[in-house]
Amino acid sequence: MIYFDNAATTRMKPPQVAEAVAAAINDFGGVGRGVHEASLDAGLTVFRCRRALATLFNAPDAKRVVFAANVTEALNVVISGLLHRGDHAITTAASHNSVLRPLFRKADEEQVDVSILSVSRDASIDYDEYERLFKPTTRLVVVTHASNLTGDVYDVARMARIAHEHGALICIDTAQTAGAVPLDMARDGLDIVAFTGHKSLYGPQGTGGLALAEGVDIPSFKEGGTGTHSYDRRQPDFYPEHLEAGTLNAHGIAGLLAGVSYLQDKGIDSLAAQVHELTERFEEGALGIEGIKVYGGHADIGRTGIVALNVGELDSGTVADALGHDYGICVRAGAHCAPLMHRALGTDTQGAVRFSFSSFNTPEEVDAGIRALREIARA
Ligand code: ALA
Repeated sequence: MIYFDNAATTRMKPPQVAEAVAAAINDFGGVGRGVHEASLDAGLTVFRCRRALATLFNAPDAKRVVFAANVTEALNVVISGLLHRGDHAITTAASHNSVLRPLFRKADEEQVDVSILSVSRDASIDYDEYERLFKPTTRLVVVTHASNLTGDVYDVARMARIAHEHGALICIDTAQTAGAVPLDMARDGLDIVAFTGHKSLYGPQGTGGLALAEGVDIPSFKEGGTGTHSYDRRQPDFYPEHLEAGTLNAHGIAGLLAGVSYLQDKGIDSLAAQVHELTERFEEGALGIEGIKVYGGHADIGRTGIVALNVGELDSGTVADALGHDYGICVRAGAHCAPLMHRALGTDTQGAVRFSFSSFNTPEEVDAGIRALREIARA
């Protein structure tokens, strides 16, 4: 099998990730639920993971890194807690449904005013148009750092500056960038970073969360046991407990810590350079095939390891099926949970075939992908 679906889940992980999960399953008790060794071991690992993520994102305080099941849940915590009737929110057409659907629910049920910055055919956005969307009621900007369809990375530092000039908070969806593109919350003025563990952080599925800047407060999303202040009627108002209830996924978080530690050892820049080389090699080869059209990838300040394309007028699902069945090559096709981006690129009927690379892929695999595409395009 050749796995080019890393933008959905990185399947090839450093071996220490699985080892950490297996060890945790055999050793851990519940975090914060006991003073015995099994509980303390789990608690220490979870705290180390908060600290490693705070370092990775240059977040102010490890206690302000809170865990959730994935980036979707984390974004729901933010959008459901911060937006209410009378508020205005801004997003972009590059957003994934993990942003769009919670916003549209707020619009439908609480009449939250939602503006969507358009994306051009080349996947670019216009930052002047973005600034014109602000209103006195704008409370939150919630934008994707990079498109999950084309890999284009947007300038969130610039967007944060403009949001702050208008008195709004900014939350960035880093599903495609955490671990793949260096992030610096303090330097770039990012109020809220929503992340997922199972992509470029090399963690297990079921891990993700939020990193909050100092002073950012989000109403609790769920209530329940925290192992602390048990006689209080309401959820503690301190972090991380304020946004966490119930037994944490410490087994998964142990794996996430191993993934983040691997990243820190290797260096994001060096892993990203490897992915960039594979991406460019693939794109160049694909563009040399008659009938192939590549979408985006060169619109803004960078790109992740994604090449989205179509083969002539062939349905994207048909191409993905051929790649999988005839060549053992795994890609994602169809609508990618990003409906407005497909409309912007003109691929809402055909969908797109997405090749997404990781540092564990090789140039030989990339060349096999190009050969397979050439044969499919010729058939
Ligand atoms: N959002 C993930 C993807 O783009 C699941 O495939």
